[in-house]
Amino acid sequence: MQILSVTPEIYPLIKTGGLADVTGALPLALGASGVKVRTLIPGYSTVLARMETDEPVLHYAALQGGPATVRVAQMAGLELLVLDAPHLFDRVGGPYGDTSGDDWPDNWRRFGALSQVGAEIAGGAIKGYLPDIVHAHDWQSALTPAYMRYGRAPDTPSVMTVHNLAFQGQFGAGIFGSLGLPGEAMSIDGVEYYGGVGYLKAGLQSAWAITTVSPTYAQEIRTPEFGMGLEGLLNLRAADLHGIVNGIDTSVWDPAADPLLPGTYSAKTLKARAVNKRAVEKRFALDDGEGPILCIVSRLTWQKGIDVVVSALDDIVATGARLAILGAGDAGLEAALLAGAAQHRGRVGVVIGYDEALSHMMQGGCDAILVPSRFEPCGLTQLYGLRYGCVPVLARTGGLADTVVDANEAALAAGVATGFLFSPVTTGALMQGIHRAIAAYSRPAIWANLQKQCMKADVSWSRSANRYVDLYKSLLARKNG
Ligand code: ADP
Ligand code: GLC
Repeated sequence: MQILSVTPEIYPLIKTGGLADVTGALPLALGASGVKVRTLIPGYSTVLARMETDEPVLHYAALQGGPATVRVAQMAGLELLVLDAPHLFDRVGGPYGDTSGDDWPDNWRRFGALSQVGAEIAGGAIKGYLPDIVHAHDWQSALTPAYMRYGRAPDTPSVMTVHNLAFQGQFGAGIFGSLGLPGEAMSIDGVEYYGGVGYLKAGLQSAWAITTVSPTYAQEIRTPEFGMGLEGLLNLRAADLHGIVNGIDTSVWDPAADPLLPGTYSAKTLKARAVNKRAVEKRFALDDGEGPILCIVSRLTWQKGIDVVVSALDDIVATGARLAILGAGDAGLEAALLAGAAQHRGRVGVVIGYDEALSHMMQGGCDAILVPSRFEPCGLTQLYGLRYGCVPVLARTGGLADTVVDANEAALAAGVATGFLFSPVTTGALMQGIHRAIAAYSRPAIWANLQKQCMKADVSWSRSANRYVDLYKSLLARKNG
């Protein structure tokens, strides 16, 4: 089976969040089941600078305002198709915006082009390559199923995966004429959304199947509270909507062999985590001490509940725990956290920025990871926490609720507990979660068992990769039946 994956991000080439981890790891896991994945990605300048590409396999004299080619490349076990279109992707800044964080004004054009090319490859544009199924990720590639449906490859099954419904790619109606879609597509059951063009909406409407990254989030997004306006459409398509929980790449994230850790360890050598804890203390200018270090590795946004952490800082410090935070995002939250660190010197340490290596050290050295998200399609940092014995303390929502077993008395006694869940996302409930975690930490035998239980949890891709394979098979059966 041949899958064409279309995505704006892929680890280890270009990452702003969990999407990249997933699109980078899933192809490898599917490969083990005999499914061959090729991934179409934008040729951002940073991407092209990091690898060698072969001769072009596809040429466009004009693609959304300039010449473009598609080039084949391999990296880290991934088979890539790179859309080299300098007028769209050769820019200084991030994948979606400039260095000051403002979105590129032509994102509709950039990701419309990516989607169009994906659909044309599905339709046989590259000689000798015809994917059986196309798998699109998030709004940036969500026009792919629409282009396919409206002529480019109507008989090829497509899957639209929603990693985060909060980002929808909503643009004015004026762009429609430049997309090269037939007029009939500008309709309520096509790409039209509230009078404009909705990229994610178009994908949800057009794809043969829809998936999201946990079973609980798949249910939540059918309600007004979490549906971000798309709950009606998602309910109409409920029969084609699946929740498949993310896994992680357990070779990149392996405490026993992680080159980014000052000291490696396993569930049998938990004491060896101490050297990592010392390194965290140093990096975050925390006092040395015996008490727990809680950590956060996150985009600093409202979704992630970081404002609640800001309001809880004094209370967290009052427990005697120390707190290490790595993140970047909203300027106001960054400033509030830095102010909190200045006020609680030695107890709260904050590093603003994106630092993959430091995130590994924190999982390997801190005692617990806090994820107080208001909504969370899946969440990966708690999975890394499980793998590293950095016990998760989480909001009971979305994929967080699906991946951790709350350490209530019964679960502890049965030896199945893997973390602490709280709800709602308020200072009070967060503090209850933290207090429960600290109480467990003060009983070393219980804590060690909890850590071991975490490290035993299956966070690999194997089960979920099989669910994708089953879904792909069912779509091929639908096509042929
Ligand atoms: P989201 O994709 O919504 O941001 P996830 O939990 O799914 O949330 O994935 C976040 C990914 O980004 C994880 O791999 C996490 O370790 C990483 N990450 C987030 N912020 C940072 C940061 N400041 N530095 C390094 N890695 C980060
Ligand atoms: C999104 C979600 C996150 C999920 C990730 C990968 O960024 O916010 O919950 O883990 O995608 O699917």
